[in-house]
Amino acid sequence: MDFYRHIDFLRVTEEAALASSKWVGKGKRDEADEAACQAMRNAINTMDMKATIVIGEGERDEAPMLYIGEQLGSGNGPAVQIAVDPLEGTNLCANGTPNAISVLAAAYEGEGWLMHAPDTYMDKLVVGKECVGVVDITLPPRVNVRLMAKALGKDVDEMIIGVLDRPRHEGLIQELRDTGCRVHLVPDGDLSVAIAALDPDTGVDGLMGIGGAPEGVLTAVAVICTGGEMQAKFKFRSDEDKARAQKMVQGDVDRVLRTDDLARGSVIFAATGVTSGDLLRGVRYKRGYVLTESILMRSATGQIRRIETIHQDLEPVAER
Ligand code: FBP
Repeated sequence: MDFYRHIDFLRVTEEAALASSKWVGKGKRDEADEAACQAMRNAINTMDMKATIVIGEGERDEAPMLYIGEQLGSGNGPAVQIAVDPLEGTNLCANGTPNAISVLAAAYEGEGWLMHAPDTYMDKLVVGKECVGVVDITLPPRVNVRLMAKALGKDVDEMIIGVLDRPRHEGLIQELRDTGCRVHLVPDGDLSVAIAALDPDTGVDGLMGIGGAPEGVLTAVAVICTGGEMQAKFKFRSDEDKARAQKMVQGDVDRVLRTDDLARGSVIFAATGVTSGDLLRGVRYKRGYVLTESILMRSATGQIRRIETIHQDLEPVAER
C-alpha cells in the first residue's frame, strides 16, 4: 500500500459527515442516512482501487447502495475490503443528540481481513490496552468490572462502563451499579462508546452489552489499531439469522469471538463526528467554512491521528 493512501479514507468519512450534518436535529433519520450513504459512495468512487463492500447498509435486495458485495472505486489499483457505517446513530443525528459519527474500516486484500458479519446482534466486551488479557466475556459483568478496576489501578466506584440504554440491559445495568461502578448509558451508538473506551483520555473504561454485529466488526478494527481487546458472542434474533450467519462466518457461530475473529492483519479505521460526543466533535458551521473532527488509525504503523479539517470549498469531493 502507498504510504499515505490511507489518508484518502478520511475524505470519505468527512464527506459523509458533512452531508448528514445538514439533517442534524431535523427529525428525519432516513434522509440523514441516505445523504451520508450517497456522499460516502461518491467519495469512495473517486479513489483508485477495486473496493468491495463487506459490511454496509444490508443485502443487495434491501439496500439501494453500499450493499454487501457492491463494487466501488475507479476499478484501477489494489483490491480493498471496506466496511462502512455512513451514519452510526441515525436517531442521534435526527434528534441532534451526541455521538452520531460516520465510520469506515478498510483492509487491503492480502494484507488484512474483515469479517463479513451478518446483520444480527452481538454481545460485546471492549476494553483498552491496560485491560488486555484481564477480562473474559463468559464471566459475570460484576467480575469483569472488578478485574478491570484492578488492572487500571482504580476503585470500582471510579470505573465508567458504557452500555446501550435498552430494556434487554436492565439486568446488566443493575449488576454493574450493584458493584458501585458508574454506568454511562447511551441512547444509541455503541460503536462510538467502544472507541471512547479504547482512549484513556475519555474517561470511559469499557463497553458492555448487546448491539449490532456489523458495528462490532468496525469496533474490532479500532481495537486492533489501538491495541485494546474485544470479546463478543453473536446473539441471534431468530433461527433464520443463525442460518445466515452459518453461511457467512467460518467455524462455530456460538463460540466466543476474539478480536482477530472479527478483523485481522493490516487495517485502517476512519471516523468523523457528525454531532459532538464522547469521541469526536461534530460538524461545526462557521462563517464561510465548516469544521470537522476525525480520527484516523492505521494498524501497520500504530499511528492514531486526530484531525481537524477546515472545509473552505463546500462542493462534495466527487463534484470538484
Ligand atoms: P443505527 O445508526 O443503524 O441506527 O444504529 C445505532 C445503534 O445504536 C448501534 O450503535 C447499535 O449497535 C445498534 O443500533 C443497536 O441496535 P438496537 O437499536 O436494535 O438495539
